[in-house]
Amino acid sequence: MNTGTAHHYLASDKEFDDLFPVHIQQLSAIHWTPLNVAAVAARFLVQNAGARIIDIGAGVGKFCIAGSMYAGGTYTGIEQRKNFVTIGNKVIKQLGLENVSLIHGNFTELDLRGYTGIYFFNSFHENLVFSDALDNKVEMSGELYELYNAHLLRQLHAMPVGTRLATFWLSVTEIPDCYKLLGSHFNNLLKLWVKER
Ligand SMILES: C[S@@+](CC[C@H](N)C(=O)[O-])C[C@H]1O[C@@H](n2cnc3c(N)ncnc32)[C@H](O)[C@@H]1O
Repeated sequence: MNTGTAHHYLASDKEFDDLFPVHIQQLSAIHWTPLNVAAVAARFLVQNAGARIIDIGAGVGKFCIAGSMYAGGTYTGIEQRKNFVTIGNKVIKQLGLENVSLIHGNFTELDLRGYTGIYFFNSFHENLVFSDALDNKVEMSGELYELYNAHLLRQLHAMPVGTRLATFWLSVTEIPDCYKLLGSHFNNLLKLWVKER
């Protein structure tokens, strides 16, 4: 993608969200990462051109797509809702982004150790507050919240030292203490971590 094209879509969240169908645009303000947050998170996660970033609960790929435009690197988004994956991959193809892809599945099926950086936008929250859910297309429950959280914690523990992690809208208590907090932005909503031991 040339710089001019990226510049056009990164001009504002409205400009970016217009890439997607109207019903997806309407979810953006609450459910997709704002561009200013994606810029800071991606620049933190991508330390060099070889960086491989995983977005756990990628939606239609707003973070992955915008992140690649801001910081380069390779992005994979895993998303449990198939319709989001189909819509997101169509936009990725239309933009000609070869370093971004969305895969359909539950993150519990994925080994995170293939990645150098992790982005996590409080994806399991809808299991606790059903009124905040995106739709009723997937199973949601308090038990699933516990299961997903426990799985993520185990995976975070197993990551190599030096792994970078960016969390958005997440309580600090949910990150294991082998991760050091390096910075907080946007009223502490975005937190940047590195695995120290
Ligand atoms: C808040 S949205 C974030 C979207 C995207 N990361 C972004 O910033 O634009 C969270 C997404 O996580 C997905 N999700 C929740 N639990 C998941 C799981 N266990 N496995 C895969 N995706 C999940 C939801 O379907 C939803 O699309």
